[in-house]
Amino acid sequence: MCGIIGVVQKRGQVAPFLHQALKRLEYRGYDSVGVTTISNNELSMKKDKGKIEEVHVKLNLDDMPGNIGIGHTRWATHGIPSMYNSHPHFDCKNQIAVVHNGVIDNFLELRSELSSKGHEFSSETDTEVIPHMIEEGMAEGHSLVDALKEVTKRIEGTYAIVAMSTQESDKIVCTRDGNPLVIGRKEGASYVSSDIPAFLPMTDDMILLLDGEIAVLSAGGVEIRKLSDDSLVDRETIKISWTADQAEKGGFPHFMLKEIHEQPDAIRNTLRLRFDTIQKAAKMIQEARRVYFLAMGTSGHAALAGRHMFAALSGILPIFELASDFQDIVYGSLSEKDCIVAITQSGETTDTIVSAKYAKSFGTKVLAITNVVGSSITRIADYTVITQAGPEIGVAATKTFMVQLTVLAQIALAASEQTGFLAEYLIEKKRKCLQELPDLVSQVISRNEEIARRLAGELYKRSSLLFLGRGVSIATAEEGALKLKEIAYNHAEAYSAGESKHGPIALVEKGYPVVFVAPRDETRNRIIGNVMEMKARGASIISVLERGDQELGDLSDYSFVVPEGIEPEFSTMPYVVPLQLFSYYMARRKGFDPDKPRNLAKSVTVL
Ligand code: AGP
Ligand code: GLU
Repeated sequence: MCGIIGVVQKRGQVAPFLHQALKRLEYRGYDSVGVTTISNNELSMKKDKGKIEEVHVKLNLDDMPGNIGIGHTRWATHGIPSMYNSHPHFDCKNQIAVVHNGVIDNFLELRSELSSKGHEFSSETDTEVIPHMIEEGMAEGHSLVDALKEVTKRIEGTYAIVAMSTQESDKIVCTRDGNPLVIGRKEGASYVSSDIPAFLPMTDDMILLLDGEIAVLSAGGVEIRKLSDDSLVDRETIKISWTADQAEKGGFPHFMLKEIHEQPDAIRNTLRLRFDTIQKAAKMIQEARRVYFLAMGTSGHAALAGRHMFAALSGILPIFELASDFQDIVYGSLSEKDCIVAITQSGETTDTIVSAKYAKSFGTKVLAITNVVGSSITRIADYTVITQAGPEIGVAATKTFMVQLTVLAQIALAASEQTGFLAEYLIEKKRKCLQELPDLVSQVISRNEEIARRLAGELYKRSSLLFLGRGVSIATAEEGALKLKEIAYNHAEAYSAGESKHGPIALVEKGYPVVFVAPRDETRNRIIGNVMEMKARGASIISVLERGDQELGDLSDYSFVVPEGIEPEFSTMPYVVPLQLFSYYMARRKGFDPDKPRNLAKSVTVL
């Protein structure tokens, strides 16, 4: 969580760029914001709690001198959102500025040690020990970078740290362990950031910084060293295929709506992945003794749907576990014969990273499915498949979910060929359906957007909703409920429709909204039974159904309609779309910003 940006350039004021870059990072945290620049060996600082634009209206973040600066948008872990706790943090003499993403576990001990040496603290954060420790190091005669190296020997926890000092005002130093930082380079300027979109309008040349490395950025170049032995790292520059436009709203009122509309293209691009990439991933799964799908949140729902795809298409039934609970469930019963599939759009989710590392310690193979080239999971995994959604800025995942499903579907079909579970003609039929999905999803968006908007107008006062499905549609229902919870703050629960009568049905009273995800697959008739049960208790029925399903349509108070002809294993892709749109319009009708839901951040880098 939290977005970090740093820039040093030959000439020109950096403050307006820092402000815009922070806006592109705001999805990572948005309870406070701060910027520091250096000019004529003096620090200028502006920071406060609140969203970037609120703080900008108050303080004018663009009006700061200097060609070097750092900025931060916060997701608080230690200390409430307040001006004092906002980053950057400083040393006693206001000569050193630091921004940090992560948690310093031993900060209390370090803080009391520094206090006893006379350092004064102005925040409750764990971060503030860092500038004071650098101050100590520089007072002992170390350069800024050497002082930061000393800091890394003392701090415990996870971090991405970016620092600068008025005593060496031509450089920015940075290091990481467990939290992301990427470097951008162009003639006359260097950038460092938590994520690529921050500097994308300035350059598409990226250099990775790995855990345990430290970098010195100047306008003329970047020098990276390993912390373990101080050796110089010769790292190649990577060309980023994302464009700056992809990280802009492009005429849509919110990123989330834009990203919902981008789903057909995202699927199309992901279907173009090289076949040998997919085959290699399928082989890892097919050869394993046991296969675990590990993920969190929306990626977990892709894993749930993926499990169904694998069972139905290839005869392999992966075990799905939330990454956060994996260690506590498997208790070391892993071996080198097993394979885990870590699904994470950001590639930075700590729960998923930690369980992948845990699996590796048993020699278990790790296959990663992620949307971000060079992200942490790619460096742990034995093999990675990169989904092709382009940058996703809205905190609520939409198009990255769609491409995770697309990749899982492709791998499941490749595994099917390898196991011989399905006849060739059936595999071909399913492949054809996948190729048609971009157009089908496009139709679903255009046919249902207005219905979603109107339904939100009817239901926005309802605080609680139930989402039901059977088979693969349980994953779809789960994702529909999560979207609504995340951005419209409704109490929304998803259940197997089969389980609903074992408890949740007690919630139902006259007018209680129950959403049924009901493609015409092998579960459809049993779903009708569940609809009848709910109707008998006065529920208001909202269904996502197949075009022409008159019977279910007649039983429903409201219906979203999806074209026919979808292979049952892939139904999550088109059927989730009306639910994404419904959540979006519910959030808007209730006056919430769908791109920046409260208490959430796009990538969750704490345990
Ligand atoms: C999705 O809308 C949420 N923002 C969240 O549940 C997310 O899916 C989860 O944190 C996992 O993120 P990842 O895919 O980057 O690992
Ligand atoms: N632990 C730090 C704080 O609470 C950094 C949090 C973040 O990553 O934004 O300020």
